[in-house]
Amino acid sequence: MNTLAIIGAQWGDEGKGKITDYLAKQADYVVRYQGGNNAGHTIKFGGKTHALHLVPSGIFQADTKNILANGMVIDPVALCDELALIESHGFSTDTLHLSDRAHIVMPYHRSLDGMYESFKKEKVGTTAKGIGPAYSDKTLRRSVRVHTYIDETRLRLHLKENLPHVNALLKQHGFKSYDVETLIEESRPGRERLKSYVSDTSLILNEALNEHRTVLFEGAQGTMLCMDHGTYPFVTASSPTAAGIPLGAGVPPRSINRVLGIVKAYTTRVGGGPFPTEIEGDTANTIRKRGNEYGTTTGRPRRIGWLDAVQLKHSCRVNGFTGIALTLFDVLSSLDSLKIATAYSLDGKTIRSMPADPADLARVIPIYETLPGFKDDISKVRSFSDLPKDAKTYIEKIEALLDVPVQIFSVGPSREETVVRANPYKTGGDGND
Ligand code: GDP
Ligand code: IMO
Ligand code: MG
Repeated sequence: MNTLAIIGAQWGDEGKGKITDYLAKQADYVVRYQGGNNAGHTIKFGGKTHALHLVPSGIFQADTKNILANGMVIDPVALCDELALIESHGFSTDTLHLSDRAHIVMPYHRSLDGMYESFKKEKVGTTAKGIGPAYSDKTLRRSVRVHTYIDETRLRLHLKENLPHVNALLKQHGFKSYDVETLIEESRPGRERLKSYVSDTSLILNEALNEHRTVLFEGAQGTMLCMDHGTYPFVTASSPTAAGIPLGAGVPPRSINRVLGIVKAYTTRVGGGPFPTEIEGDTANTIRKRGNEYGTTTGRPRRIGWLDAVQLKHSCRVNGFTGIALTLFDVLSSLDSLKIATAYSLDGKTIRSMPADPADLARVIPIYETLPGFKDDISKVRSFSDLPKDAKTYIEKIEALLDVPVQIFSVGPSREETVVRANPYKTGGDGND
């Protein structure tokens, strides 16, 4: 089977969009399977930069089909705006399929997102897109799915039954409430626009798998933002790991045979929560500036830190990476030395795995291995052998620490600034072919 999963190995923004776009030319399908427009995936080619939030990063390939699968939460207004923007740049959106079973982010979910944040002493720092409340309504079995949303009669019935509970909660805490008919009226253009994209995407994908088509699964967020394996409660409301794919796309678990972990050459995090290798000061500012580390979705400055092998091993474990794509490698050039955390110290004890309690994770002291930096600009490098010696050493150190091959490294935001050492579709792990 020819499938590949693209998974964020850290706290999101690892360059999943760039790598997905690069690998999409070999894919018949690109599939988003979780999250919503909290994601911001940046793609650069032909001198233009595109920011995608909901639409899969295969949309710029004429022959690749793009699937918004059942595990996603869809804000219809945001999706319509994104489709219009893509079309205004001259790309067709006819290759898109939207699952009839995906869940809808309603306008009141954004209000609830703000409300729940206001209750918290230590803020999650959500993207305020309504993602957590939309997934909560899914769990509470009172969410609107796409098939209901596009049917006005059923949507009205649904809202009449469920909106009073949402309104009661909002009113109790001083937030504005919503009216059924206004919601119906305001959603009409979006409902009409999206109808033509709606399909049973699990059927489409299973048929594609049976025909041995190449399918690329594009994770959003990152492993450390996973509800189960991340730094709970400072996480998103979905499962961005490889384990989320079968559930979120309606494909058999055995269809995921290779998993490419996207690893930023350092670490960033946006929003609240523990971050053991976080640094501040000159080095952090240099990295933030060179890496343009400001959120694609919210514009917030990203927190910066050194690479963390304890955290990455945790990611390798829960995802079973068969390869790594190392991104933003060029950003590290010019630094005198580079640090990688290889263990933590907690209350005087050396530990090699991440404590569950965020308060403990916030207290750990990283134990670093220091490597020499590389001075040369590597953005023009197009093969491993052309890298400066100390840059090679950094890659080899990561491979040794994680026991996973670095199959791709990226030396700039553009498509052509990508170096493939081994084809991630065809190599790494046992592949189960
Ligand atoms: P995603 O959410 O994982 O898709 O990542 P984002 O797009 O939010 O953030 C990654 C940022 O790094 C974007 O601005 C990309 O254009 C940029 N980027 C990706 N790869 C590279 C790289 O190798 N070098 C540099 N300098 N920038 C990169
Ligand atoms: P991509 O796909 C980085 C973070 C938010 C916040 C937490 C919960 O671009 O890598 P949410 O709105 O999801 O309830 O916020 O998760 N977060 C991301 N951080 N990249 C993302 O997506 C993120 N999506 C959510 O900042 O800390
Ligand atoms: Mg992003």
